[in-house]
Amino acid sequence: MSDRDAAETPGTAGPTDGETADDNPSVRRVSDWSADRLAELAAEHGTPLYVQDLDRVRENCERLRDAFPDADVRYAVKAHTGRAVLEAVREAGLDAECASAGEVDRALAAGFGGDRLHYTAVNPPARDLDYVAGVAEAEPDLTITVGAVDTLDRLAERGYDGRVCVRVNPGVGAGHHEKVRTGGAAKFGIPYDRAAEATRDAAERFDVVGIHAHAGSGIDSDQLDSHRELVARMGELARELAEPNDGDAGGDPDGDGPPDLLDIEYVDVGGGFGVPYEEDAPALDLPAVAEATREAVAPLPAGVDLAIEPGRYVVADAGVLLTRVNTVKPTPDERVVGVDAGMTDLLRPAMYDAYHPIRNLGGAEGVDGSDAPAPADRSATPVTVAGPICETGDTLCRDRALADPVRGDLLAVGIAGAYGYEMANQYNSRPRPAEVALDDGTAAVVRRRETLGDLTTVERTGTVTGGDR
Ligand code: LLP
Repeated sequence: MSDRDAAETPGTAGPTDGETADDNPSVRRVSDWSADRLAELAAEHGTPLYVQDLDRVRENCERLRDAFPDADVRYAVKAHTGRAVLEAVREAGLDAECASAGEVDRALAAGFGGDRLHYTAVNPPARDLDYVAGVAEAEPDLTITVGAVDTLDRLAERGYDGRVCVRVNPGVGAGHHEKVRTGGAAKFGIPYDRAAEATRDAAERFDVVGIHAHAGSGIDSDQLDSHRELVARMGELARELAEPNDGDAGGDPDGDGPPDLLDIEYVDVGGGFGVPYEEDAPALDLPAVAEATREAVAPLPAGVDLAIEPGRYVVADAGVLLTRVNTVKPTPDERVVGVDAGMTDLLRPAMYDAYHPIRNLGGAEGVDGSDAPAPADRSATPVTVAGPICETGDTLCRDRALADPVRGDLLAVGIAGAYGYEMANQYNSRPRPAEVALDDGTAAVVRRRETLGDLTTVERTGTVTGGDR
């Protein structure tokens, strides 16, 4: 489906009359947030607290759609599955790309119909396939993207013969860290040189509607060549599939072998568009990336659309994580600033050595007995910001110059809207943080702070006598 057609409330997604292009800048930095507003929210809801601005989510959707006006744009839900975000994205006209039964369930609950749902199955657990095959009975326009012949067999065993997209391993990857480069990783997709044959075979059993590849996540300007290479290979494959199948795979004069011509709807070249985490890093030139993508994939066979599935780009700069300084400890080697958010709230620094901008919003200077000046009047001091988890890796940054933090200050960790709350966990028995969504300036708690009681809701206590544990 064209995302243009799918837009439900076009007026809410972009600049309104009289606004200039600058009203939708290519990145919102942590310095662009109102310190007073964030301080108010932290005072009202406590910390750690995620704040997600739905207006910025809408702006990001709008920029994507402007840059890729003829492409199907699918939001990779895994970046942020909060209901409010999903609804905003749906209203802005994007489809949903889901990685699990849980994500499909949440997208359905947020109002995505089957025709706007794409489930990407990666070594899918049986219960996920059971669930999605069941959903497809009621929502036959749902598409399942499959990266292994085994998965196709397992779908067929469940009686599924609906829409399938074949995931290809293009042999080229990109991304901000080796752990998120999928393109060349054997785990994902059918190897490129077997993809045409596998796709034709799949078409004997399913309605094959597309081919798919994803290079990886967090692709910045330096890695665009790899992305272009992937896109070019996918264009080539689309053209090959549109040719009469008279090669080694065998033609189909009798009509009992693989179909002669494949009539696919789209070539999905994945997501991965990076956002600038460092304060001075330039934002991706999205219109230029879009142009290069279109050129690399061209010429597409008639009737075949380009599709993309960004996650991070939609939500990353729409979110900040607020955390309060509770400890300041000078040591001979470094100045350690202890805060109430850690790797359980924002895993990315610990897992990928990811950089997140941090801004000291102050606050301690307003507290009785504190003689701290406003942050703007403090000296920039190199600090380690460390969380409350008993792991050495639990730091949000090291050797970073911040307006010298003191106990009671509020820190805003920027560009935290993607893979932030989503990767939060309860390690060290830490309840997950609360999240507030801003919608046209109005704040609402969209995920309450977990309590100590929540930590044990799934736990069974007492004596178990049988094998029922
Ligand atoms: N499509 C597929 C099939 C994917 O696997 C992913 C991300 C996306 C689209 C969206 O990629 P994006 O546009 O968000 O870069 N937790 C890591 C990121 C892992 C991404 C996994 N797949 C991080 O925090 O950097």
